[in-house]
Formats: sequence, structure tokens, C-alpha cells
Amino acid sequence: MAAHGGEIVLKEFSDRFGGRPRVFTAPGRINIIGEHTDYSEGFVMPAAIDRQCTVAIAANGLDKLRAASLNRNEVTELPGAFARTGAWIDYVGGVRQALRDAGIDVPGCDLVISSDVPEGAGVSSSAALEVAVMSAMLSVAGATAQPRDVALWAQAAEVKYVGVPCGVMDQFIVVHGVEGNALLLDCRSLAFDLAPLPADIAFLVVDSTVRHRLVDGGYAARRADCETAASLLGVRALRDATPDMLDRADLPERVFCRARHVIGENERVISAASALSAGEIATVGRLMNASHASLRDDFDVTCSETDLLADIAAHTEGVHGARQMGGGFGGAVLALVDADAVKAAARQIVARYRRETDLPASSFVCRISDGVHEIAT
Ligand code: GLA
Repeated sequence: MAAHGGEIVLKEFSDRFGGRPRVFTAPGRINIIGEHTDYSEGFVMPAAIDRQCTVAIAANGLDKLRAASLNRNEVTELPGAFARTGAWIDYVGGVRQALRDAGIDVPGCDLVISSDVPEGAGVSSSAALEVAVMSAMLSVAGATAQPRDVALWAQAAEVKYVGVPCGVMDQFIVVHGVEGNALLLDCRSLAFDLAPLPADIAFLVVDSTVRHRLVDGGYAARRADCETAASLLGVRALRDATPDMLDRADLPERVFCRARHVIGENERVISAASALSAGEIATVGRLMNASHASLRDDFDVTCSETDLLADIAAHTEGVHGARQMGGGFGGAVLALVDADAVKAAARQIVARYRRETDLPASSFVCRISDGVHEIAT
């Protein structure tokens, strides 16, 4: 797909703007386990996938930025100062502004952007866009940056300029992904270990087609609850809280439940990483099921369709476990499946979900891929 996406943006660039651009591509991601833990400085286990956002870029010698989105079939011009519009172009303007905040001025430039990362499905189409655009803009600015800074600046673009108070997981994995590996990431220190993924398992993404909008406030409200819980427990972040502390404290019901999710989920990530390295795939699957139950019962970010989908998936032959993935309130379910059973499992899950909901689910198997990189043209 990278080469394909590269050809499409190159052709469009030459038709629309002319000249020879550079081309960058950044992946979407799955998250095996560790949901709604990143902004509490906890642990996550994401992996980059073979769905990408591809960006062609060249300086235009003008005072403005012109960006063409092939997905939306539109071209937008951005003047120098950032002003939020609520539309996709905020990601582009926000990235340019975040670079400016870091002391890097991006000259006037033209961009053509194309993505096959599904939007709103919980596979981070937004981080793919931010990181691809940021890498492209760094190149026209003639600047280099540490991968960790690219991730942090891209996160800042989303928080400050798009207006979603997200954690660092998505931008970090989109920058640091390694083919065939998940990352066990500590969201406080940003230290990570590679977690090699066995060849006989597959990750299946099944889209419920129910859509969330993280800017709608549910995500921000969960984050605020976690911060309240941390402050009532007297810790810097829920990463530092233990089940004991929670039992001893007298937190209000809702905040108690949010904290119980985060504390339990951090433990599940660490257990899943050990199980994965010991080849205990059934245990990883059970932990994923437990993660879904906790997101449903304690964190309250699932919906009836993703609950049904995760349940159908978990009870399908060859599936070790399944859970809703990403910010939540809909989106996709990730299933851990024996590789030789994944095609049949995908067919059965989609058919049953369609039968029971009348909704048009779709699915794809991910190849675990590298993070952002330039495509030679
Ligand atoms: C979104 C955010 C991430 C993370 C997840 C939930 O994807 O961008 O930072 O909080 O939700 O785990």
C-alpha cells in the first residue's frame, strides 16, 4: 500500500502543483492492550499497521500553505496564523503551529494527502495524519528532530490546536513502530521495549461502523475523572495508585470506577507483555477480554454495538480474545486470532454482527509495520 499511496499522491501533486515533491508515509495503529492509561502516565502495548497516511510536499515560494486532501476531494489554503475551523485542515495547521512553538518555521508549501486509515475506527487516523504531515514539514524546513520530539510535538498539535486532550500513545507508536513488533511503552518515561509478535497469530480489526467523536467531550470527561481520582488519592497520576490505596480511600462511585479501570488495566498490560514473551497467547486473549469488560463496566466508554461485537468475536473459533480499541464510544474491536483461522473467523464475526444489528461491519487483518518514513521517489 505504501508504494501505491506514494504513486497516487505523486501523480496528483504533479497534476495539481507541478514539480517533484518528497513523500512521507505514516501508519495507523492497533493497541493490543492498555486503553485509557496513557494520559495517567501508565503502560500501553500498541503496534503500527499497514494502513497509512501518505503526504507529498514541496516548498512553493509563497506566503501560504496549500493542502489537497484526496480523501475529501478538496484543496484548502492556510494563511500564516492558526485559527481553528473544526475541519480536517486543523490537523495540518496545528502541526505547522506546533513546529513553530518548537522554534521551527515551515516555509510556504504545497501538500497532497491521501490516507487509507479508517476514520473514527480507533486505529488513529489522526496521529497518522499528524506525524506524516510533521515529517513532511520538517523536510521542507530543512530541520531534523529526535523521533521522541516528533511524537511529542504531534501530540501537542492535537491537544493545543485540534482540541482533543489525548495522551502520547498514538503519536509515539506512529513514529516508533517496528515491523513484526508491538511496543511495551511506559507513557511516563517514554522508555519502551519491543515485544516480538509470533507469526502464527493474527490481529483482526472489525469495525462496528458506530462512530465516536473524541472532541465531543466524553474523552475529556474521562481524563478529568482520572485526574480527580489521582488528586483524591494523593498521587501525581493514577499510574502511581495501587488497588490497596483504592480500597482504603473513599472515592465517589464514578471516580472510583474510573480509577479501578486504570489501575487494573496497567496491571493487565504488564501481565500481557510477560505472557506474550512466554508464548502464552491464550493468557493474552483473556487479558484482552478483561480489558473490554473493564472499559464497559468501569470506564463506560463502550457502546452496545461494540459490546456485542467483542462478545461475538470472543466466542468465535480460533479467537483468543477481543476488545474495543482506541478512544471508544464505538469504533473497532481488535481480535487476537490464530493465523490459520483468521479468514474464517472474520467472515463469521462480520456475518453474525450484521445479522444481529443490521449494521454493515467490515474487517481487515493487519500486517504489523514500521513507523513513519520517507518513500523514495
Ligand atoms: C485515543 C487517544 C490516546 C489514548 C486512547 C485511549 O486514541 O489519542 O492517547 O488515550 O484514545 O487509550
